[in-house]
Amino acid sequence: MTVLVTGGAGFIGSNFIFHMLQEHPDCRIVCVDALTYAGNLSTLDSVMGRDGFRFIKADIRSKEAMEKVFSEEKPDAVVNFAAESHVDRSIENPSIFLETNIIGTQVLLDAALRHGTARFHQVSTDEVYGDLPFDRPDLLFTEDTPLHTSSPYSASKASADLVVLAYHRTYGLPATISRCSNNYGPYQFPEKLIPLMTINALSDRHLPVYGEGLNVRDWLYVEDHCKAIDLILQKGRIGEVYNVGGHNEMRNIDIVLLILSHLGKPESLIEFVQDRKGHDRRYAIDPTKIHDELGWLPETRFADGIVKTIDWYVENRRWWQEIISGEYRSYYRHRYGETI
Ligand code: NAD
Ligand code: DAU
Repeated sequence: MTVLVTGGAGFIGSNFIFHMLQEHPDCRIVCVDALTYAGNLSTLDSVMGRDGFRFIKADIRSKEAMEKVFSEEKPDAVVNFAAESHVDRSIENPSIFLETNIIGTQVLLDAALRHGTARFHQVSTDEVYGDLPFDRPDLLFTEDTPLHTSSPYSASKASADLVVLAYHRTYGLPATISRCSNNYGPYQFPEKLIPLMTINALSDRHLPVYGEGLNVRDWLYVEDHCKAIDLILQKGRIGEVYNVGGHNEMRNIDIVLLILSHLGKPESLIEFVQDRKGHDRRYAIDPTKIHDELGWLPETRFADGIVKTIDWYVENRRWWQEIISGEYRSYYRHRYGETI
């Protein structure tokens, strides 16, 4: 079986490749990635050149490039991780989000249809449901929660989901979708909350907490997300959406305090900064469907996963120091008004 993994030089895609090569040694993995600022070939060092793995630098928005990949590799399944993934960047520059996340997905869907690909799996997000109030802890996102997006990022992901479902209904493309909550773990780009705060704390820089830090995210260790996608590929029902999350809601400020405490750094490093525009208050996933239908359950407790993750950044300084490129430095200066 050949699985085409798009966006595999990014955070979750790379972890998925490691998971698949480990758990399914007979599986051939072809990774397509455009190597944007968020994609890093060094992340894939341990699998590069290995039998059963091929890396192709290509852009999912290019019909010609995707036609070539599908003709050469004839994938049995596509798992589409490739995306612009950072909400703050989507607020600054929405266009690239619409181009990559919507048009890029549609180019892949067309290629999959033309080549009779047996499964197209779209990696989506809980952000397509919008947000939940703070004072209704009983409310969770189910697969039937209406789409109600806030940012250009989430609007582009919801649009892509609708296009995937349209290709299933109209053309019979065998598609599935997963909508996961916030992931954390190794190889996450340092623009995101947990690596950003960890790296800043390690460098005794300010930890920029938006608003009062009271927004809530539902955190899942990346390996648990990868296992969920693997299960959906094996046993998921065609045309279905599966929510993925581990009932682990945390306020941002509590995550930041935990990172400082684990690293033995002072709370005085925290700086409350201007809030994100349209900031979603709370996300919380109801994973009943994937549990009941496919038997999926998260395996990593947050208390263990967060320590593993912080320690990974401590032990892999070279990885993040190398990827903090000129582009990231100027993004950081523009966004936070400080140099990194
Ligand atoms: P990431 O930003 O770390 O990685 C994205 C990858 O896609 C990068 O390697 C980048 O080079 C590649 N890419 C971007 N544009 C491309 C293009 N036009 N053609 C080919 N490759 C391109 O993102 P991530 O956090 O690993 O997220 C992966 C997927 O999972 C995204 O679709 C995201 O919406 C979804 N998701 C993320 C989370 C999370 O917490 N990070 C949670 C739920 C869902
Ligand atoms: O829920 C899934 C989504 O999780 C994915 O679809 C996105 O790709 C992924 O980036 C993530 O989105 P968030 O916006 O939740 O993640 P981020 O790490 O950017 O922010 C997490 C929370 O931390 C959010 O409430 C904003 C806050 N924050 C973030 C940054 C970067 C800060 O307070 N300060 C910061 O500097």
